[in-house]
Amino acid sequence: MNRALPPGLSLTLALAAFPSLARADGGLVANPGLIGLFFARPSSDPHVGGVDLAAGAGVEFSLVRYERALRNDAFLYGGVAQVAGVSRNHAATFYGMLGGEVAYGGLGVELGSNVWTAGGGGPTSVGLHVAPYLSLGFAYVSAGLHLPFAQGDASTPDLPHFVLTTGLKVPLTLTGSPLSFGGLPSGRPLVHDGRLIVADTATNDLWTDDVSPEVNPLDDVTRRALAAQWLDDGLAEHASIAAFTRVAAQLLAVGAPPELLEDAHRAALDEVRHARLCFTLAGMYGGAWKAPGAIDVGAIRDARCDLASIAREALVEGCLGEGTAAALAASASERCDDPEVRRCLAGIADDEARHEALAWRILTWCLDRGGDDVGDAVAQALRAMPATVPLFDLPRGVDRAVWSASGRALPEEAAATHATVAAGVASRAWQHPKMAARVSAVSPRRAAPRSRR
Ligand SMILES: [Fe+2]
Ligand SMILES: [Fe+2]
Repeated sequence: MNRALPPGLSLTLALAAFPSLARADGGLVANPGLIGLFFARPSSDPHVGGVDLAAGAGVEFSLVRYERALRNDAFLYGGVAQVAGVSRNHAATFYGMLGGEVAYGGLGVELGSNVWTAGGGGPTSVGLHVAPYLSLGFAYVSAGLHLPFAQGDASTPDLPHFVLTTGLKVPLTLTGSPLSFGGLPSGRPLVHDGRLIVADTATNDLWTDDVSPEVNPLDDVTRRALAAQWLDDGLAEHASIAAFTRVAAQLLAVGAPPELLEDAHRAALDEVRHARLCFTLAGMYGGAWKAPGAIDVGAIRDARCDLASIAREALVEGCLGEGTAAALAASASERCDDPEVRRCLAGIADDEARHEALAWRILTWCLDRGGDDVGDAVAQALRAMPATVPLFDLPRGVDRAVWSASGRALPEEAAATHATVAAGVASRAWQHPKMAARVSAVSPRRAAPRSRR
């Protein structure tokens, strides 16, 4: 017999099935949400015994900072507050919690203090709140303890509660840019359902290449920071291989000319080379080889094969993303005082500039060939394009001059480069004959960009 799930449980499962949301590295994310509470504790009446059960509902709000959010080992930390009304033995009580949380991947823990007001035979008590949780996309569930350490009515001693909490939250990215991998955008991103996709990190030497930076003059903190940044870049470059595989498939689907297909495939091979260089640098600075593991290729499977989507992606991911990557790699190579790293950066800069040019050719071809829907999609993307990005944080304990001389962009330099490229992309794109009629009411958005989700 078929039995339908209750609507509330169905909704929770459906939302939980959503993939985790992409957040910007170092970004602040606000999470307003709804919670449901179920709690159990030994009965407050020793003569009766058994267990008191109660249930309630309320709201929560957390403000968290994501670290290394562009990698699968992302962790977060921040503050969380919850308030709820609870029915205990048919009497209303108030529940409130204030604390902090830290999570790694989808597993985390809340630690704080909570308060229960009197009602339903229980006393008012203040206690320690310890609650491990599992977060799945928009939904989470936690199983925690309320350990009372003070109470208002000593005649009825409060006892530890077990608290099961389920929640639905809406993550709102406040700061951070998804285009910046440690200040050096690494080319065409792989985006699926608004998320940036990168591979798992593996430990092997399969992705090494012939590059050997000067490691010895650097202190440990700088070496570790450089290793982490080059690892991020390696994962991003590796994701770009899949991004160009997708581009090639999309171009095939819409009958693109062979020159575009050839160059899309060549670009994928360039990205293999970039990834190998970056993983090698990460391994040399970090003292252990790193490599990409499995990557989710749903972005290829679910690619939207219409001219409007291809044009929009070429504009944002190619003209802007790879244009910024090319400019940053070029300026970084000029400042870099390590000849080996300089050689890598110069090669990457040349390739990314070619990829940027390919994106313009794809965009122009789509506009020439398509109808109004393509022009409308590009106009919409241009208006939504962030004109500026927030400054990223330099890794703690790292000297700015050493960082720059090691071939890494400084925060203000990355932001300025992005702004220059974005302005150039906007002015050039609006010059296409099909865009001219849409040029009114145009200027790039000045507000801080939000992470694509
Ligand atoms: Fe690229
Ligand atoms: Fe690249």
